[in-house]
Amino acid sequence: MRKIETQIIKIEHPLSDQQLMTAAQALRAGELVAFPTETVYGLGANALDPQAVASIFHAKGRPADNPLIVHVAEPEGIDELILEPSEIARLLLEAFAPGPLTLVLPRSTKVSDVITAGLDTVAVRIPAHETARRLISLAGVPVAAPSANRSGKPSPTRAWHVFEDLDGLIPYIIDDGPCEYGLESTVLDLTGSKPVILRPGAVTAAQIMERTGIEVADSTEAMGESDVPKAPGMKYRHYAPEARVWIAAGTDYAARAEAISNYLNQLSEEGSADLRIGLFTSGMTRKLIDCRYYEYKSYGKMTAEFIETRPIWPARNLVYIDYADRPDPASAAGKLFTALRRFDQIGAEIIIAEGLPTEGMGNAYMNRLNKAAGGGKPAGGR
Ligand code: TXA
Ligand code: MG
Repeated sequence: MRKIETQIIKIEHPLSDQQLMTAAQALRAGELVAFPTETVYGLGANALDPQAVASIFHAKGRPADNPLIVHVAEPEGIDELILEPSEIARLLLEAFAPGPLTLVLPRSTKVSDVITAGLDTVAVRIPAHETARRLISLAGVPVAAPSANRSGKPSPTRAWHVFEDLDGLIPYIIDDGPCEYGLESTVLDLTGSKPVILRPGAVTAAQIMERTGIEVADSTEAMGESDVPKAPGMKYRHYAPEARVWIAAGTDYAARAEAISNYLNQLSEEGSADLRIGLFTSGMTRKLIDCRYYEYKSYGKMTAEFIETRPIWPARNLVYIDYADRPDPASAAGKLFTALRRFDQIGAEIIIAEGLPTEGMGNAYMNRLNKAAGGGKPAGGR
């Protein structure tokens, strides 16, 4: 693909339409714009322009059989995209829109096959992020957008993640800082007899029940290796870093720290102590780890500067990233993808990550972490 110059549009707050005008016009005109949402950064194209949508797949290196989510600024924007009004969708949107919830519904003829990969359904979402909504409103068109990573990389939660993956491949990246949640939206399929969560996210089955009384099944909780997932994207191996990922299980942080101590000691006894290890835990958990064989090095602040300084990794070093002081799934979720990217970049061979209870954001966190631990190299797109 011909290399193009990638321009970064840094947002200053308070946000003004002026700052987004160039990007909105570019979107309208069929160009690609990466933009922040409250979940992860998206790679947007005018959803009504099949050629623009096709260029998303090129830039990402994404398989064409993996459909895209269409983003709109207001609930009314969904009407033209779906076959007929849905009462259950209306209730869900009332309770959760704008926000990190994507609904899969029967599609209208306005939605092209390029977006849906030929399915007769379409995924729609109203992002809560102010910059995303203003951009979509200004563009005046629905915006098809997958996560703005190259296929095979974790979703970007910072603008510089997008830059790492797509510099030279897309014309615009809107930089508005880190994403609030750091994991992709909940995908809820409304086309069957009962709503089913195809991908867990910040909106949980329990919250849906509590706020709307609607019962939903979580297909991702019980899904075995052999089951065929209904969200085409879930069949690809996701978030699998180069390193082997080992998840520390335990009912509390002390138990998890003990499990990590045992694992580290076992590695050194096995003669594997020279492996480069990345550790992703809470600070409290890390401080309880009892293994003197390694020298602990802090990753420091998760800033872009780190990319420039890539240290040579001396043997017996363990580089850690604390997601927060205390164990907390929301913080862990917010930093997981940054940590996976960084550990890969600095050549970690083993990543030790703290497992957390699957309540609230913990369910989505463990879903992504388990995928990362799935082993092997990515088999395709995401
Ligand atoms: O938070 C998010 O959802 C982000 C931001 C940018 O909105 N987007 C995102 O898109 O994660 P993407 O393309 O990386 O993931 C979309 C997921 C994929 O697993 C895809 O297979 C599924 O949604 N999906 C899209 N359309 C679908 C459909 N019609 N039926 C079933 N699953 C669908
Ligand atoms: Mg993705």
